[in-house]
Amino acid sequence: MIRRSGWRPRGWGRKAVPTLKDALREGARRLAEAGAGTPQLDARLLLQAAAGRSMEELLCNPDEELTVCQSAQFDRLIGRRIMREPVSRIVGRREFWSLEFEISPETLDPRADSETLIEAVLGQVADRQRPLRILDIGTGSGCLLLALLTEFPRARGLGLDISEEALGVARRNAVRLGLAGRADFLRCDIRAADWVTQAGGPYDVVISNPPYIPDGEISGLAPEVANFDPGIALAGGEDGLDFYRIITGSVAELLREPGWVALEAGFGQAGAIEGLLRAAGLESLQVRDDMNGLARVVAAQTAPSETLTGRPAGRGSLDCHTDLRNWGI
Ligand SMILES: C[S@@+](CC[C@H](N)C(=O)[O-])C[C@H]1O[C@@H](n2cnc3c(N)ncnc32)[C@H](O)[C@@H]1O
Repeated sequence: MIRRSGWRPRGWGRKAVPTLKDALREGARRLAEAGAGTPQLDARLLLQAAAGRSMEELLCNPDEELTVCQSAQFDRLIGRRIMREPVSRIVGRREFWSLEFEISPETLDPRADSETLIEAVLGQVADRQRPLRILDIGTGSGCLLLALLTEFPRARGLGLDISEEALGVARRNAVRLGLAGRADFLRCDIRAADWVTQAGGPYDVVISNPPYIPDGEISGLAPEVANFDPGIALAGGEDGLDFYRIITGSVAELLREPGWVALEAGFGQAGAIEGLLRAAGLESLQVRDDMNGLARVVAAQTAPSETLTGRPAGRGSLDCHTDLRNWGI
């Protein structure tokens, strides 16, 4: 005799297949029990993915039954989240700068804090019609470069990365966002002696969110990061500054005048990055805080700005919305 419970997905109590409403409730309960920070939201996003339904469809048809397949799939997705895999990784998508990006196990999961870098460049370069050439070092999913290309409709850009798999994701993102005609991607290891030659140039804007976690700190990060972001996207050497040293060592060569650079900084690293940019001969250094008030981006330019308002690097805190405004060109 076939036992019905033999094919019943784990966790759904007595019913073989749940309704959308029941599945959502049970999924959220399991996630809350496992200590997930946003169990309701996570369960809803995973149910949408498993059932192939929009949020509106979930809300409008709460009594619709899942198929056995959808129910089992939802059960698997909840299990992955319980193992601390981020929802964005499970569904393979992440919103950044109000654009949807494909992500994969080979790309960093783009962080909202990195939008500070986009804001910094928009503050530096006021003329959106300028035909900028932009270089993005360590492009990953391409989120930074592609977000900037949507803001500067006449700009072109090159994204470099050591990971061919990540570059494949970046290329697909460029196609999906209608930016493939203005975005190129190149496999390039910036530890190689000839990386600057490979990068070409000169560029008007150089941006990077490089790997910046001190090697010894990676295992202590939240499991969502340590276990699911690719190690090469995180590891920045013993003190986390290896890639900043490489980039600042060549940034003046990569930039034309006037030219702008904006680098994302890890926790407590902004001061060291300022020092590296100064040593590279860059001027008008500015620090921009993220939404949590942490120094997140250090920006500089190749020539002195005439008028600067805001927070010059190395001074106290400041409202980041005013700091770079007078860098406009
Ligand atoms: C912190 S992630 C940033 C990804 C993306 N720009 C973002 O902000 O989401 C750093 C990126 O640098 C790349 N990377 C690591 N080592 C590299 C190297 N030696 N040369 C070029 N890129 C490298 C990684 O593959 C990863 O995509």
